[in-house]
Amino acid sequence: MKYYIINKYLAALSGLFLILFLTGHLAGNLQLLIPESSGAQQQFNDYAAFMSSNPVVKILSITTYVSILLHVVVTVALSIDSKRKRGVGYSVSRSPSNSISSRYMGVLGTVILAFIIIHLSDFWYKAKFEGETDVYSMVVNKFQNIEYVAIYVVAMLAIFFHTLHGFSSSFQSLGLVGSKTRRYIKICGMIYSLLIPLLFMLIPIYLFLNLHKT
Ligand code: HEM
Repeated sequence: MKYYIINKYLAALSGLFLILFLTGHLAGNLQLLIPESSGAQQQFNDYAAFMSSNPVVKILSITTYVSILLHVVVTVALSIDSKRKRGVGYSVSRSPSNSISSRYMGVLGTVILAFIIIHLSDFWYKAKFEGETDVYSMVVNKFQNIEYVAIYVVAMLAIFFHTLHGFSSSFQSLGLVGSKTRRYIKICGMIYSLLIPLLFMLIPIYLFLNLHKT
């Protein structure tokens, strides 16, 4: 029981940190929407160079990697534990609502994890370990490929459903949902889950259609 509560807290805290990470990551990536004629390439590459050299950002990056690993490990442990005890999935039996999102948290999480592996090996690995400094061209060239754009669209749909349940569920696990706050947390979760994946999805589509060249 003690481990169950610790794992619930860790799943919620790592999930909320990843929600913050995605907001910051999106803000930086929205610079890809700047027209090429307005100096987007230089601006984005300067931004990428700053992000990989600033010591505060380095600490945040390490916290992000740890949060991803922790979130996977504790949610898998919670799921196995719950199935063993009850013969019912953790997300189904413990969820505040029994929506599609809450039922398929494990499947959605697996799709997101697969996406993160593809994403990191294509962008992050090349920038960090293969010395690629023109991160802008690397991203723009990758999104000239329709299959690659499709992977991002599917992954963003998974993030939409995953955070739709995960956002309010994290507050619930931390005991931060009261009768007055429940409604607001739900509304914030809905706005976040819609807005963030939608804007992320816009970037590959925009670059595929070469709208940055207009
Ligand atoms: C259109 C969407 C996205 C674009 C264009 C994009 C672009 C990038 C680029 C260029 C990097 C490498 C930065 C560098 O090391 O210089 C990166 C890193 C990363 N991306 Fe994305 N990204 C997108 C969406 C996402 C999403 C949805 C997730 C998570 C679900 C994600 C997770 C990460 C992580 C964890 C890193 C490593 C961050 C770090 O080292 O601090 N990205 N992304």
